[in-house]
Amino acid sequence: MIYLDHGATSFPKAPGVSAAVALYIDETSGNPGRGGHQLTIAASRAIESARATVADLLGSDPERTLLGPGATFWLNTILCGRLGPGDRVVTSALEHNSVMRPLRWLEAQRGVEVVVVEGAAPTGVPTPAEILDAVNQSPTALVVLTHASNVSGAVIPVEEVARRVAPIPVVVDGAQTGGALPFAFSRSGLAAFVCSGHKGLQGPSGTGVVVLAEGFDLQPLVRGGTGSNSESEDMPVMLPDLLEAGTPNGPGIAGLGAACTWLADRTVEAVQNHERALIKRCITGTLAIPGLHLTGWVEGMEQTGVLSFTIDREDAGELAAWLDRERGIALRAGLHCAPAAHRRLGTFPTGTLRVGVGPQTTEDDIDALVTALVDRCG
Ligand code: ALA
Repeated sequence: MIYLDHGATSFPKAPGVSAAVALYIDETSGNPGRGGHQLTIAASRAIESARATVADLLGSDPERTLLGPGATFWLNTILCGRLGPGDRVVTSALEHNSVMRPLRWLEAQRGVEVVVVEGAAPTGVPTPAEILDAVNQSPTALVVLTHASNVSGAVIPVEEVARRVAPIPVVVDGAQTGGALPFAFSRSGLAAFVCSGHKGLQGPSGTGVVVLAEGFDLQPLVRGGTGSNSESEDMPVMLPDLLEAGTPNGPGIAGLGAACTWLADRTVEAVQNHERALIKRCITGTLAIPGLHLTGWVEGMEQTGVLSFTIDREDAGELAAWLDRERGIALRAGLHCAPAAHRRLGTFPTGTLRVGVGPQTTEDDIDALVTALVDRCG
């Protein structure tokens, strides 16, 4: 099978991930921080070691690097924890539903004002000046932006936004960029950076990370046991316990640690260069196909390893099913859980066909896709 759906999740996982998951299950599976026997200590060590590796990769403080079930969980924790009646939040038109759904819920249920900055065609990427302009129109509690569109791969210059709008906190959804774009949280100026563990970081599903700047504090979305302060019916105030209630996903976190070790060794810069070259190859090959239109793309734009397109008179879903069935090529068609982005890019409600490459994708994989598209549509 040729897997070109890294925008949805990475496959295969980084070498060493499945072994680390199995090792945790077979030999480490105590409940971390709960009790003092050998297995609980081994589990705590495995999790703290993974946390340190993830933090090292993201350039963050391990004490403010929290591990949980996914990017969606952490985005909900931040948005629902920070925004209340009368608050105003500025965002982009390229957001995934992991941002738009909590924002629309907050708008309807808590009277939060949601301001969407459209960004110019064809990419819909808002400039830092446009975000600053939106922020300056009325007191703003928070800016939340995707780091890169999961539809087009277009990158928003979030660090420059943070510099321009300071001291208003900027929260970034890095689901498409964590592990895929070189990034150091400590130098970013962001209030919070959220990413999936199973996409660019190459780890197992059911893992996600949030990194919090000093002074950007959150209330938990979920409260419960932490193994600490067990005499109290209130949550402990120290991190990570405040935000990591309940037994953690030890196997997933151990796998995430192994993935980040592999990634650190290969380097994020090398992965970025590899993915850039593959996307360039894909663009060159696909642009030659009559009737094919790249979505939200312009020559020279900053882009991740994701690319979307439509083809005249071809239904994206049917084409994806044909590629899977006839050529063994896996891509995701449709709206990619990002209706706002598709509206902005002019591909709502039919959606696009999306290519997503990863560290283990090859030039042959891209050539096989281009050949298949030429055979069907060329
Ligand atoms: N958010 C994931 C995607 O873009 C699932 O496909």
